[in-house]
Amino acid sequence: MCGIIGYCGPKPAAELLVEGLRRLEYRGYDSAGICVRTGGKLVVHKKKGKIKDLRDHVPEGLDGETGIGHTRWATHGEVNDTNAHPHLDVTGRVAIVHNGIIENFDALREKLEDDGYVFVSETDSEVIVHLIASLYDGDLERAVKQAVMLLKGTYGIVAMHQDEPGKLVGARNGSPLVLGIGDHEMFLASDVTAIIAHTKQVIYIEDGEVVSVTADNYQTSDLKNRAVDKKVEFISWELEEIEKEGYAHYMEKEIIEQPDSILRAMQGRLDHEYATGHLGGLNMSRQELLSVERVKIIAAGTSYYAGMVGAYVLESVARIPATAELASELRYRNPIVEPNTVYFAVSQSGETADTLYAMRELQRKGARVLGICNVVGSTIPRESDGGVYIHSGPEIAVASTKAFTSQITAFYLFALMMARMRHLGIEAGARMIEQIESLPRLVEEVLRRKETLIPIARKYAHADDVLFLGRGINYPVALEGALKLKEISYIHAEGYSAAEIKHGPIALINEVTPSVFLIPDDGLRDKVLSNLKEVKARKGRVIALAVDGDDEVGRIADDVFWVPKASELLYPYLMVIPLQLFAYYVALELGRNVDQPRNLAKSVTVE
Ligand code: G6P
Repeated sequence: MCGIIGYCGPKPAAELLVEGLRRLEYRGYDSAGICVRTGGKLVVHKKKGKIKDLRDHVPEGLDGETGIGHTRWATHGEVNDTNAHPHLDVTGRVAIVHNGIIENFDALREKLEDDGYVFVSETDSEVIVHLIASLYDGDLERAVKQAVMLLKGTYGIVAMHQDEPGKLVGARNGSPLVLGIGDHEMFLASDVTAIIAHTKQVIYIEDGEVVSVTADNYQTSDLKNRAVDKKVEFISWELEEIEKEGYAHYMEKEIIEQPDSILRAMQGRLDHEYATGHLGGLNMSRQELLSVERVKIIAAGTSYYAGMVGAYVLESVARIPATAELASELRYRNPIVEPNTVYFAVSQSGETADTLYAMRELQRKGARVLGICNVVGSTIPRESDGGVYIHSGPEIAVASTKAFTSQITAFYLFALMMARMRHLGIEAGARMIEQIESLPRLVEEVLRRKETLIPIARKYAHADDVLFLGRGINYPVALEGALKLKEISYIHAEGYSAAEIKHGPIALINEVTPSVFLIPDDGLRDKVLSNLKEVKARKGRVIALAVDGDDEVGRIADDVFWVPKASELLYPYLMVIPLQLFAYYVALELGRNVDQPRNLAKSVTVE
């Protein structure tokens, strides 16, 4: 979703801003722009389209020592040059970039128009720049504070004023903003990937805070002008981790990284002596953990499907009733918060608005909400009551892959720990540890076979619809497989429980519609195979993910991807990776923009 970068320092700002925006491309956007102060004036360049279009548009050698940049993902107003950020006020002296949504922009716009302010764009963001201009009396920081107090909605803002050279003012409510502290230079950004090439020292700005920045100084305060002391934190990600390192796409790199990323999610968290999981960040005593009677999981998109797998594992391993729910739905149905229930908010980015707001609603009602997140220092982990970082490293491709397998790993560890505190003996615990530890090797084995998927993907790449069918713990994996295909190939895909197709979806089966069946050798294998036969009996085309040696599936299915034999609980890993690869190869065959699919954003920070 929208991205922000701001720079104060001695280097030529324009080039640095465009480069920062390039690093924010992964968030998803449809236009981009920059504003720099040069020759005593603010100069804006903005363009619909990609960063390279902006780069071509910015005059070579444009200097300027301070500036702001933005990638826009349209919410109010169509995608065009005018609606792109930065926005200038009528006099051209104030410029702003904004992430978020201003809910009362209609009323504010009307009032400002009555006062003679002329709007040029259709965006909600433009009200902010006119408001700041109308309140400005020589102090940008004060004007920003007064302006944001009039706003309803969410914002991450960076503003600059022509008459205050070398200064930026940032404010946050609901949309992330981070200050990067360099050597005689400062950065403001919506996420650290934009600035990691320059500095690893950061301060996370919180809701209700304002930061005033020059090349050598920063001040943080609240809206009542009280100074706020902030902790400088250190980013552990390396620049190389956000580079493609020779892969054609980030998505390919991130799929292939999974043996390592899964290992990182479990490292230091398996206690061999007591055969249990060890999750230090939960902030819960043993007694509190023992009194948990129910687990509820909230999330969106891929993280929601990981939550469904997690719920299954918690029930089957720890025998604790567990359910997963879409955060966006939970928030608006006045959820009942019961004692002895622990909630998990699962989010790769830690910024998804639906998940964050649902978490806050639960916390207001007295719930304990733990996070399972990837991005360190993001809002959900900071506001949660504890949790687990999955340490996948930066996930840049919009379609989530490695985060999914690490999120479920966090649930396996939690389930092991909870089970060991209850009914699970030390030997059974040790067996589960062994299984969890075998994952990187099994995943390597699946990846070694990836080439066999290429001809299958090519064969089916021109299908109009694809069904993904699984059961039990692999039902959410089928949903995730369908989501991956939709997201990056734009082929219509549906995931169902294989049992459910006879209640409707089987009507879609004909000679051309392919169905992808997930057939692990678990207790449901025979049932799924019967469903597969029902599809074949109707001349449907079948791609099966089956376990080595399952000859019967080999005989019936049109195409098979073979996965190694493993214990039942591990199949979600071995099934989801081929589905990620299938989507990837289909998208390649169709010439899609794999890493930045149309209309999607990596981190959806609006409702
Ligand atoms: C967006 C992304 C999805 C992601 C979902 C939840 O829609 O495009 O890939 O699964 O948000 O994101 P989160 O960061 O909360 O896991």
